[in-house]
Amino acid sequence: MHSKRSRLDRFIARTCQVPLKAVKPLLARGLVCVNGTVVNDAQWAVDEFDLVVCDGVVLQERTPLYFMLHKPVGVVSATRDAQHTTVLDLIDHPDKESLHIVGRLDLNTSGLVLLTNDGRWSRALTSPEGKVPKRYQVRVTFPLDERYVKAFAEGFYFETEGVVTAPATLTLTSATTAELVLTEGKYHQVKRMFGRFRNPVLALHRTAVGPYVLDDTLAPGEFKPLVVPRARLHSG
Ligand code: URA
Repeated sequence: MHSKRSRLDRFIARTCQVPLKAVKPLLARGLVCVNGTVVNDAQWAVDEFDLVVCDGVVLQERTPLYFMLHKPVGVVSATRDAQHTTVLDLIDHPDKESLHIVGRLDLNTSGLVLLTNDGRWSRALTSPEGKVPKRYQVRVTFPLDERYVKAFAEGFYFETEGVVTAPATLTLTSATTAELVLTEGKYHQVKRMFGRFRNPVLALHRTAVGPYVLDDTLAPGEFKPLVVPRARLHSG
């Protein structure tokens, strides 16, 4: 899941199979671009997914892969499982074994799951500092009211982790349904939050993670490749 980083001059020497000292003049002459920008600094850090163009030749060690999947209820957010169908079983791609999941959903939760082989992208989307919003539709057993909205905004103390949950936005959409936006992803977080009101969650569906919104043409079990603009790659 961690992307390998190396110095730009070593990366070029390795991928072009030339001596390190042959790289310096190329950098000095402005013939090397990283992700579209001319770079002269031999020590510039690149990873296996950065697009390096050297004198017009594209050098890239690995092709980054990004997928959006509509996870059905009953499919497990794991890459291997002895009992259940996994999200990876639903992806049809020759390099799917290189993928990891960007934020898991419970077995009985449906909706948007992102998968990638680019550790920098998944970290940007899931790190607590990033505060990337995750949007859910939720249906509960008993009627909701404004007390819930206030409590979700104030946060709940989670004893296991010893933390108060970050302010969450709950918008009531009917007597027993709501839209919820969280900026973190603790274990069973939504169910535990409604559990404080002894109001069991009957259905939970994730519709968005940051800028990635579940495509409504994607039926449960379907996936599609994502085109991630480079400017957005490591900023969630
Ligand atoms: N919170 C939960 O309780 N379950 C999920 O699958 C996601 C968030």
